Amino acid sequence: MTQRDERSLELGQSTGAILDEAARLLPGGELPAAIFNDRGIFELERERIFSKAWVYLAHESEVPDPGDYVLRYIVDDPFIIVRGEDGQLRALHNQCRHRGMQVCRSEAGNASNFRCPYHGWTYRNNGRLTGVPVEKQAYGSTLDKSQLGLVQIPQLDTYNGMIFGCLDADQVSLDEWLGDVRWYLDILTMRSPAGLEIVGAPQRWVVDVDWKIAGENFVGDSYHTLMTHRSMVELGQAPRDPKYAMYGEQVHIPERGHGAMLIGAPPGTDLPPFWGYPQDAIERAKRSMPSQEQFDVAHETRIMLSTVFPNLSIHNPIRRPDHRYEGSIPMMTWRVWNPIGPGRIEIFSWFAVERDMPEEWKNLSRLSYLRSFGISGTFEQDDAEIWTHIARNAGTFSGRTHRVNYQMGMELETDPNWPGPGVAQPANFTDANLRNFYRRWLELMS
Ligand code: FES
Ligand SMILES: [Fe+2]
Repeated sequence: MTQRDERSLELGQSTGAILDEAARLLPGGELPAAIFNDRGIFELERERIFSKAWVYLAHESEVPDPGDYVLRYIVDDPFIIVRGEDGQLRALHNQCRHRGMQVCRSEAGNASNFRCPYHGWTYRNNGRLTGVPVEKQAYGSTLDKSQLGLVQIPQLDTYNGMIFGCLDADQVSLDEWLGDVRWYLDILTMRSPAGLEIVGAPQRWVVDVDWKIAGENFVGDSYHTLMTHRSMVELGQAPRDPKYAMYGEQVHIPERGHGAMLIGAPPGTDLPPFWGYPQDAIERAKRSMPSQEQFDVAHETRIMLSTVFPNLSIHNPIRRPDHRYEGSIPMMTWRVWNPIGPGRIEIFSWFAVERDMPEEWKNLSRLSYLRSFGISGTFEQDDAEIWTHIARNAGTFSGRTHRVNYQMGMELETDPNWPGPGVAQPANFTDANLRNFYRRWLELMS
């Protein structure tokens, strides 16, 4: 028995036993609650998921020019995502090769060099060590600076401007990791030849919740809108039919863990197609999207959500900034649920918009985001209030032995006519995407 197992055993159940229980229960649509707040599970996730997975770090528009950088994290590993003078993107581990100090202390900026505040070793923005104070007197000729550059992340790649990093040099390529979810990411990111831009810095805050609870919510939990966001319906911020999120299609990518929900106009509503974009933007989208099928699916969609395993989620609803639903301003938020401890995450939440939309439209879309999601968002606050109590229960002596239920839609047929890849079900009140998310989780954990 490892020390880690012993620690968990004190809480009532070993990590191995929790995973065995999860493997036994998942085919029947259940899981042990302990997976949501357990020190051993968290440590194992760090080792087997976050040190192996392709994790979303930044968008290219956050670092457009040489020297631009942002700090980003995989669990607690800090990286400087920086564009070098050569135009190349790099993710440099933010740890000085001298005594391990953080060399860059600002979360974003532009720099040709990073100088460590401890003894002053200085690195170019490509990671090369170029300056060592009083090098000759202090080291003579013994220091091989060529071997002492900042360590680069083992793998870095982009998809449609989205920058992902991976701590495992042997992991499959980003394209392979994403697999068929790329078809759905295209719908979100290829509406204009000009591409998307991230506006401003990400909002960041800490929530006492497990990263999986947030990820599963965005991958396929439409069902909670009936209750959790009911007040939004009553206030006129969501469609009048409280079952609005039931309609549409839920799609998951087997073996990969990713999934998406594509929700159309609820019956009887008169919502404009293609999220209510103006006609000229729809024309641009038609030219920009890789296939007619993707454009046609987008045309019928009013709300879209996706989780890219493990911890990137995207939400793209049509919503008005004045809080009335019948309108024409969609908004798009991307978020990373970065685990920072058992039952605890730091949320990074970005606002994204097509680069070539008019400024006034971008502003309205951003207001729509700020009022519904992000720290000030009503929907976000609804969700966090619920999620923290799930995580808290999952960490209690008795609560950790309880089972949570994912049995919705187990007998629902798949949709043979769905034009996109993946397994589609013609409804959103189903847990198919969640079961798929946890199958992937379990596969990597076991
Ligand atoms: S720790 Fe960075 S220069 Fe000494
Ligand atoms: Fe929600």
